[in-house]
Amino acid sequence: MCGIVSYVGSEPKAARLLLQGLKSLEYRGYDSSGIALLNDSVKVYKNKGKILDLEKNIYSLSEQEQSEVEQSICGIGHTRWATHGEPNDVNAHPHLDSDASLAIVHNGIIRNYQSLRSELETKGFVFKSDTDTEVIANMFSSIRKELLSINAYEDFKALRELSSRLEGSYALAIIINDSNLNDVTKPVKRILLAKNESPLVIGIGDQENFAASDSDTVLQFTDKIVRLADKELAVISKNTIEIQDFDGNEIKPIIEVLKQNDSIMDKKGYKHFLLKEIYEQPTVLSKMLSLIEDQSFTNFKLMDFQIDFTNIEKVYCIACGSAYHSAQVLKSILGTWAAIPVEVIIASEFNYQVNFLSEKDLVVGISQSGETADTILALQRAKKTGANLLAITNRPASAINNLCGVNTYITPADIEISVASTKAYTSQILAHYLLALQIAVARKALAEEFFNEILHNLKMLPVLIEQTLHRANAYKEQSLNYANYKDFIFLSRGINHVTAMEGALKLKELSYAHATAYPSGELKHGPIAILDENVPVISISIPSKYEDEQVTAEKVIHNALEAKTRKAPSILLTTDSNQDHVSEFDLVVRIPDIDQVFSPILATIPLQFWAYYIAEDLGKDVDQPRNLAKSVTVE
Ligand code: M6R
Repeated sequence: MCGIVSYVGSEPKAARLLLQGLKSLEYRGYDSSGIALLNDSVKVYKNKGKILDLEKNIYSLSEQEQSEVEQSICGIGHTRWATHGEPNDVNAHPHLDSDASLAIVHNGIIRNYQSLRSELETKGFVFKSDTDTEVIANMFSSIRKELLSINAYEDFKALRELSSRLEGSYALAIIINDSNLNDVTKPVKRILLAKNESPLVIGIGDQENFAASDSDTVLQFTDKIVRLADKELAVISKNTIEIQDFDGNEIKPIIEVLKQNDSIMDKKGYKHFLLKEIYEQPTVLSKMLSLIEDQSFTNFKLMDFQIDFTNIEKVYCIACGSAYHSAQVLKSILGTWAAIPVEVIIASEFNYQVNFLSEKDLVVGISQSGETADTILALQRAKKTGANLLAITNRPASAINNLCGVNTYITPADIEISVASTKAYTSQILAHYLLALQIAVARKALAEEFFNEILHNLKMLPVLIEQTLHRANAYKEQSLNYANYKDFIFLSRGINHVTAMEGALKLKELSYAHATAYPSGELKHGPIAILDENVPVISISIPSKYEDEQVTAEKVIHNALEAKTRKAPSILLTTDSNQDHVSEFDLVVRIPDIDQVFSPILATIPLQFWAYYIAEDLGKDVDQPRNLAKSVTVE
């Protein structure tokens, strides 16, 4: 999703740093990019496509233009993920106001942009793009001119007035050309910032300052950051940082020193980040388990949450995409281990249910990026009801952590660069198992023997994942036979419905094939109509030593065979020693033996490989699939 980077300093390196910053925002997903530089005028360089194209365009400018680019000490940059207006050169950011006196980059959505645009058009402002951002540029320009005309212009005053006119979410960075002002009144080169519901951090350097959507972008340049809160404004120059809230109160910057992330943009020899992240899964899960290594039944806790779990009557999980899938595991196990009802709700649909919440509820928000607007807004609304909040994320420097504070569990999955989630997803599932254990123990709902058995099984996961990763070549070979199908159905039941959903999502995201997951019992209630020899059906059936769950596994096989009799190519994903009807399938994909209740992590791994290898074979952009964003910061 859109990303912002800005630089103001004393050395002529704005263009280089902005391009470097933009590259570190690429993982968020984008369709166009651009920079604006402030010299004696504001110049914008932008285009549809990759940052490499932007770089090529800049380096093929005339010698004179290039030297202007290279001189600049102040600028703003942007990666755009289209919301208003198609992805093209004109709609790319930065946007200038009508007379090119300022440039602006924006992350978010302005809901009232149409009425503002009409108002500005009647005042003579001319629009080139279809974006809501150009409206902000012209609105700020209009406010600035009016204030200048009565000698009352001040950056904060103008920003406050701008914010009072905008409805919606925004992180803004603005540079202004003051060259027409006389030397006495001319301010120093600076960047104006505003934040409401979209992420924005300031980075503090030595005689230089930065601003970006993402603390990791700033971390390449400095480890000192100031996080802007919602409804805050800032003006930064090379050696000053001033912050005010929307009411004009001064805010003292709180400086955080972050730990340097070693080379997040390094693929470490893997062809794609996705592959690297798939292979990082055993390490991430081992780290999580090592943190609870010394714990036992009497002192078990994933974390010291400030929540009285004995008092909770219902749990709501809110999340989107893969994080939403992961939550289904919490629902299955918490129901069984602690007899607490759990409802899993897609974050963007949660707001309609907020009226039912009370302080006896626990709302668990799950988000790898910690910045997903739908999830954050749902949590903010839940917070107002007095419900207990708990967050699971892999990003310490994130809005979700700010919101849930001490009740945030940070998985050690760290930043995921590939847009399709892999290690973040499996670490979320392990977090759910461990959280469910903590809640069950707190409520005295588990016998010690059962607790020990669960923990033993969880501790086996990293080794089993390693063994599964060693089968990558087999998964590759199997998957390539199915690379040219356009429609897939994924089936399972019980706890592995989540695996079917995640397998389908991975395949869709990476290969652009149509893939849908159904609880296998639903097949005959409709979807069976689409089956024929062109629709492979991938069924996930993992045996269990518990009778009920074993019956579930058997039922999946029966439903899968119903699909096979409709000529659908039939693929079974199961464990090494399962022989139940396997000879009736066209293909059997195996994972090491594991009991069903612990299998969603392991069973996902072959499906991650399938999606990866099919996408790669089809020549798709594996790490940045079309239309997708890593941090979905708009509703
Ligand atoms: O950052 P989040 O975990 O909140 O993101 C939620 C979804 O946008 C995300 O899981 C998305 O579905 C991924 N692309 C899945 O691979």
